[in-house]
Amino acid sequence: MDDRPLKTSALRADLFETLAQVEQGQRFLIERYQHPTAALIPMRDYWFLQMTRARAQRDKEPRMPTQRLVIANASGGEGKSTVARELAYSLALDGYRVALMDLDPQASLTKSLGLHDDPASPAHTEAATVGTVFSRDTPPPLPAPMHVEGVDIWPANDALNSVDSILNNDFARAANLRDALDAYLAGMERPYDFVLLDTKPQRTNFLTASVAAADHLLVPVSGVKGLENLDVLLKLVRVARTIAPDLSLRAFVPNRIREDVNHHKGLLEHLRTELSALAPVLPVIRDSLATMGAATETRQPAVLCKPGAKVSGDLRQTTHALVALLQGGRA
Ligand SMILES: Nc1ncnc2c1ncn2[C@@H]1O[C@H](COP(=O)(O)OP(=O)(O)OP(=O)(O)O)[C@@H](O)[C@H]1O
Ligand SMILES: [Mg+2]
Repeated sequence: MDDRPLKTSALRADLFETLAQVEQGQRFLIERYQHPTAALIPMRDYWFLQMTRARAQRDKEPRMPTQRLVIANASGGEGKSTVARELAYSLALDGYRVALMDLDPQASLTKSLGLHDDPASPAHTEAATVGTVFSRDTPPPLPAPMHVEGVDIWPANDALNSVDSILNNDFARAANLRDALDAYLAGMERPYDFVLLDTKPQRTNFLTASVAAADHLLVPVSGVKGLENLDVLLKLVRVARTIAPDLSLRAFVPNRIREDVNHHKGLLEHLRTELSALAPVLPVIRDSLATMGAATETRQPAVLCKPGAKVSGDLRQTTHALVALLQGGRA
């Protein structure tokens, strides 16, 4: 769409109509005394500018090798998909090149970014998922990722349900995802700074293959239930290390925390004392139904659609602590 000139008097008269058009993608140049003095642009253009500017700055700095982070917990509903999505966009806002992999046939992450809204979207096809890499002994290349607001994403759909039957017959293929990601990154002119992998909660061979495709494991925990299956997850990590020897439990991510609730206080205490020998604890992400509800409704990450919300502030802080941790600092 062209940038349309608009006089301030017309803007004043038709503000709501103009904003509705901006929401549809129209850009306006606001003219005052026939000179363009400001622009009204859709939020997605604004984020693009923010990310591009931050990326130009970031490109001047020495870059770390690609950091592969898997977000996993053998308990359901701890915030894996939410944490993966929010960290990815938060990192992109800081100028990092980021990709997301949805490795859960439930596809909550894919859906939360609106990729399943259009029934004709390639996100519904098996060919768009990473499931394809398990189809042969030697993994075929990863499909091209889709793009949503500055982040690349390999979507999920229920075709991923077939991965477990393949791996149950032939566990040797559990290394295929890691190998295919290695090959994909090696072929990129400018590899990603971060690849974040969102996983399913069920402890199956596909989960092992997903964890083994990463080097760092992040464990979101939103309640005591989130730690009940920790031993199951740690056992799975030991198996995954046969494929990814350097895989480490990098950090716990306390999510949906209400510090006024006693058992949440107890949970944090437990993480910071009993479990601190296993991994550090990243800053707390609070429980915010309103903001996460808005993210679900608008199909946008909270850090983009509600940048001023307190929980978005928490997510930004968690992102920065994570980057410091990966660079060798402390959480
Ligand atoms: N900090 C938060 N504040 C409020 N709601 C949250 C927060 N984090 C996650 N949620 C909500 O909790 C629910 C579960 O989160 P999510 O889907 O990310 O969990 P999950 O671990 O990926 O679940 P599953 O095991 O089914 O894959 C979602 O409705 C999500 O919007
Ligand atoms: Mg999920």
